[in-house]
Amino acid sequence: MSMQESDYSGMKVLLIPDPESVYLTTANLLLKAIEAALVYRGRAVVGLATGSTPAAVYAHLVERHRSGYLSFRNITTYNLDEYYPISPLDPKSYRAYMHNHLFSHVDIAENRAHVLDGTVPEEFAAAHAAEFDHWIDADGGLDIQLLGIGKNGHIAFNEPSRLSVAETIRLPTRLVELHPDTRAAAAREFGGLERVIPRALTMGVAPILAARSIVILATGAHKADAVARALTGAMTALVPASLLQSVAHKVTWVIDAAAAERLP
Ligand code: PGA
Repeated sequence: MSMQESDYSGMKVLLIPDPESVYLTTANLLLKAIEAALVYRGRAVVGLATGSTPAAVYAHLVERHRSGYLSFRNITTYNLDEYYPISPLDPKSYRAYMHNHLFSHVDIAENRAHVLDGTVPEEFAAAHAAEFDHWIDADGGLDIQLLGIGKNGHIAFNEPSRLSVAETIRLPTRLVELHPDTRAAAAREFGGLERVIPRALTMGVAPILAARSIVILATGAHKADAVARALTGAMTALVPASLLQSVAHKVTWVIDAAAAERLP
């Protein structure tokens, strides 16, 4: 695997030819951050992502666990988002995704694997979201946050908007409406556009940017435009991933050749 390291807007960018090596490199970055946190404070707090891209990353983590190299006994996790409303038993829920790809295969304590609750009554959704941010703080903050990027530049379900940059970087965890692009991207999974659950609970931009380190991965040509705008464009709420530039020193991008094809 030949890897090329570059710098865009102060962020470290690892350019890797093939997607498989993107997933392996990302898993290794997560492991390194986890090991450092375990040594430094005896536990690690990790922000996790769902979607098609991170699944292979989790397969690597499960393999490390099976070979006795990684234990989740002292690891707490927080997931970025969850559809709303949705049951954790619904196979399309992100709780089910995490169960299938990671939690059921490793020794994580049930009460340390946090996923926003898609069953909370709507009048309590704001309180639940605020509590989620409070739990992350009470756990000493995220040691590392794993992120994907949407085709429209979203991070978690923080969608493009007309807000100012200052307003956007302060967004807390909350209930949101999904952007039409995001609903379109989920249509196949839900068996039709009209079946996509149109709302979600999402970790806010503020708690994401507060993580001590952030690794964001992108593979495929369909992400190339969003990647180029996030890495080389101005910071704007129209491309939420561009706001990572505001904490550039702690951000690492891991992208394959196809996702990098629009970069200068
Ligand atoms: P994907 O989603 O990994 O399924 O492409 C990424 C995202 O929308 O954040």
